[in-house]
Amino acid sequence: DKGTYPFYMLKEIDEQPIVIRHLIEKYLDNEGGVHVGQAILNDLKAADRLYIVAAGTSYHAGLVGKRLFEQWAGVPTEVHLSSEFAYEQPLLSEKPFFIFLTQSGETADSREVLQNVNAQGFKSLTLTNVEKSTLWREATYALPLLAGPEIAVASTKAYVAQVALQAILAYAIADRATLGFDLEQDLSKIAVGIQGIVDDKETLQQVANQYLVESRNAFFIGRGVDSTVSLEAALKLKEISYVQAEGFAAGELKHGTLALIEDGTPVIALITQAKTAGLVRGNLAETQARGSRAYTIVTQSLAKEGDDFILPDVNELLSPLLSVVPTQLLAYYTSLGRGLDVDRPRNLAKSVTVQ
Ligand code: F6R
Repeated sequence: DKGTYPFYMLKEIDEQPIVIRHLIEKYLDNEGGVHVGQAILNDLKAADRLYIVAAGTSYHAGLVGKRLFEQWAGVPTEVHLSSEFAYEQPLLSEKPFFIFLTQSGETADSREVLQNVNAQGFKSLTLTNVEKSTLWREATYALPLLAGPEIAVASTKAYVAQVALQAILAYAIADRATLGFDLEQDLSKIAVGIQGIVDDKETLQQVANQYLVESRNAFFIGRGVDSTVSLEAALKLKEISYVQAEGFAAGELKHGTLALIEDGTPVIALITQAKTAGLVRGNLAETQARGSRAYTIVTQSLAKEGDDFILPDVNELLSPLLSVVPTQLLAYYTSLGRGLDVDRPRNLAKSVTVQ
């Protein structure tokens, strides 16, 4: 039931702080403990390489997961589109472990990969929002995303849950002493941060109306983990507002895409990584010199005068949990402003059960 909400998508965006709190309650305690089951942890630790397999938004969550597993836990991690992996399996390491990310648990492409993986005798873990779904049942292990039913075709809270649960797993197998932070505290801060963003939705509605509703196209740029959020931001905007959008690593602009920048083209930059903030600003300035209308989404400590949307400071690798939210709201309000059916975009189904 969407209650007083005009569309499920807005309700589901608003639920994201609660989703984070549910994950904290179920999987973490305030003594640094992680409760996902010892067998899963043993297999994760025994693996010499992780293979994350997913489609669409879940794939984008996996791109964040790769950074978490590599940078926190030191485990080499590959992320693959299930529709590609299914028919072109890459060379595998000696002790691979598979992680399937799927909101519905029914995506046919991902299931095809899981069946191949099972046939080869490899172990797997499905992270899904639907308990007892096909990918839940067919994997060696499964953990619930606890996001609650996601009705809108465009996925929002499932992405946030997938990123957070991967962070919990990476944290569980990492060397805590060298990490030097408490994930429970960091995720709690993030729940508060997301609440602040969703409470500021009118700002994003104005931005959508001003920058995107009448635009033919739009670009999202960022570096590192911000480049992956850019992909997700572009997908969401395309999917529900039909504005042609592209997201990519900011350094790639000058290798081709810059040619598309015209007077008034919206370019939205995500800036949450200290190491590359200056470079992204440089890339954005190059688009402005060609007439782009720039909009910045920046974390507090990296913000400069003239920046547009400020996010609270959090653990840098967890910043997608915050930065994705304004982009979800931009997509939502662009679709709304264009008078479209936000929850049921044309040509799409919630659960993709064909290959
Ligand atoms: C986009 C979206 C899709 C799904 C994709 C995978 O908003 O919802 O891209 O993420 O179809 O679906 P699941 O996660 O159910 O396997």
